[in-house]
Formats: sequence, C-alpha cells, structure tokens
Amino acid sequence: MEYLVKTNGLTKKYETQTVIKNVNLHVKPGTIYGLLGRNGAGKTTIMKMMLGLTKITEGSITLFGKSLCDGNKRKIYPRIGSIIEAPGFYPNLTGTENLKIFSMLRGTVSRDEVKKALEIVGLPYKDKKLYSNYSLGMKQRLGIANAIMHDPELLILDEPINGLDPIGIVEIREFLEKLCKERGKTIIISSHILSEIDLIADDIGIINNGYLIEESSVQKLRDKNQKYILFRVSDSSRASMLIEQKFGIKQYKVEDEAILKVYQTNIVETNIINRFLMENEIDVFETRICNDSLEDYFKKITGGEGIA
Ligand SMILES: Nc1ncnc2c1ncn2[C@@H]1O[C@H](COP(=O)(O)OP(=O)(O)OP(=O)(O)O)[C@@H](O)[C@H]1O
Ligand SMILES: [Mg+2]
Repeated sequence: MEYLVKTNGLTKKYETQTVIKNVNLHVKPGTIYGLLGRNGAGKTTIMKMMLGLTKITEGSITLFGKSLCDGNKRKIYPRIGSIIEAPGFYPNLTGTENLKIFSMLRGTVSRDEVKKALEIVGLPYKDKKLYSNYSLGMKQRLGIANAIMHDPELLILDEPINGLDPIGIVEIREFLEKLCKERGKTIIISSHILSEIDLIADDIGIINNGYLIEESSVQKLRDKNQKYILFRVSDSSRASMLIEQKFGIKQYKVEDEAILKVYQTNIVETNIINRFLMENEIDVFETRICNDSLEDYFKKITGGEGIA
C-alpha cells in the first residue's frame, strides 16, 4: 500500500463558509506526517473528518486502502488512536483510573496495557493524584497514553505537544519516533509551530486558510529553502541598484540600510560583486552565504509577513 491515509478532494463547508478546500493529503505507512498551519487553518477539521467526528461535505478519505464509508467504519476505527481536543477525562479520578475506564469502554485492553501506556508517556501507575490536579503537560501525556493504549496502527494527534515544556517535547518526540521506527506505526500530528514539526516529521503538509498549499518531505523543503548571499555594506539600497544595473540581478531584498540579500547566487562570483561595490564607493563589511530558516519560509507562504 503506497499510502496509509489519503484524502481525495476533501472539502468541508459549515453553512456558507468553506473551511477545507479540495485537500489531497498523502500519508505513507510507517512515517510521521506533520500537518502544519496557523490557528484556524483547518487542521482539527481535517482530523475530525478522518475520525468521522464531523461529516465530509465533498471528496473522500481512504484509510488502510479502504474508503471511509459507513460500511467500513467498524473495521477502520479500532486501528486508529487519536487525540482531538479535550479527551473528556473524569476530574475526580486518578490518571490510572481514567485509563481503566476508557479501556473498559473499548473492551480490548488489559491492565498491563494501561500500565505500559502510562510508562511510555512517563506517568506513574500508582499515584493518588487526581486528574483535576494534573498540570497541562501531565494532561497531554495522559491523552497520548489513552490514544496508544490499544496499540493502534495509526495515530491521529491534534497538537499533542501543545503546552509541554522543552524536555517534555523531546520526550514525547522520542517516543513517537520510537513507535514509528521500531513498531512501524504511522502518525499524523498537527501543530502551528514549524520548529516542532520540523524536528519530528518525515513529511509535512502546510494548510493555510483551508487549502493544502504545500506537501513535501521535510528534507526537500529544507533543500528548497533558498540560499542567498548576505552583504553587509555602507548603503544597501544603492548597492542593490548598482548590482541590478551592472549584473542584471533582480532577486534581492534590502533588509535594512546595511543588509542586502541576493538570492541569485550563481550569476557572478561574490568577489566580483565585492570589488564592483568598493569601486563605487560602497564599503563591504561582510559577505556570507546563508539559508533562510524554514520558519521564515513558513511565515512567507502563510502570509505571516513579508510576502514576496
Ligand atoms: N463547528 C463549526 N462551525 C462553524 N465553523 C467552524 C466549526 N469548527 C471549525 N470551524 C471553522 O473552521 C475553520 C478551521 O477551524 P479548525 O479548528 O479546523 O482550525 P485549526 O487549524 O485546528 O486551528 P487551531 O490551530 O486554532 O486549532 C475556522 O475558521 C473555524 O472557525
Ligand atoms: Mg485545531
């Protein structure tokens, strides 16, 4: 099977508003797929449609090679674990008691599995602390434990690392990677923070305003991120005009009065530009080859700032 999850022209309308527009996602088995988008982009809505929590308006979803229709749901859902919004734990019970109840509801989980799930997320099995007294990070962990308890093949996790401290993020990342690499699980994870997705995901889908505006491997996205030469000079705007006239360089950005970024790196050698600028009485203090960070790129394509 080439894709474990595939959406085909997936569209969702709420009354008159179309919030998901013709989305075609491709999730390969045994990989971590990051769904990235700003608040309100449509990440939760897509995941809810995958889980049958909200109706699909148009298009379809294929899970495990089967179309997600009423006849297949009973076969498909036991193979998925998920966290979507608040899981509805009982505040006046402990974490262990909560998981036991959820496992009984599923009817498939043994006591050992509750224990193991708690161990994986780093929560104690024997603990008197009530859920209502849990910190945000502990609540997140319990949610993940609940999602993995029945050993599903596919995990759909909506913002599972929201609210975790940096060490918590690393721990969760490591165990999700382990689930994926050692046990062949497939994971779809959403976030609005690119640096989280960047570290954890193999592939990435960027959702903006209901559209899938980019789908690629994280590695490709990194490679694609533009290289540029940064010039620190005495007058960046005059320098930009000069190099445009002289060398026909058109892709550049005047960052401030001293910084000029030239994106066409293969037209002329840097030393020739340097000499030319100095001949024209522009001091060159620094030249450096740089890559834009993925964060800049994400901001650029989602309209965060500085749209080209
Ligand atoms: N039940 C609903 N009725 C009407 N509109 C809705 C409903 N649920 C979501 N929306 C709208 O759909 C759009 C996408 O929302 P969604 O919750 O999927 O975004 P998100 O990417 O998960 O955002 P966040 O990062 O804030 O969680 C938003 O404009 C939202 O207002
Ligand atoms: Mg959401």
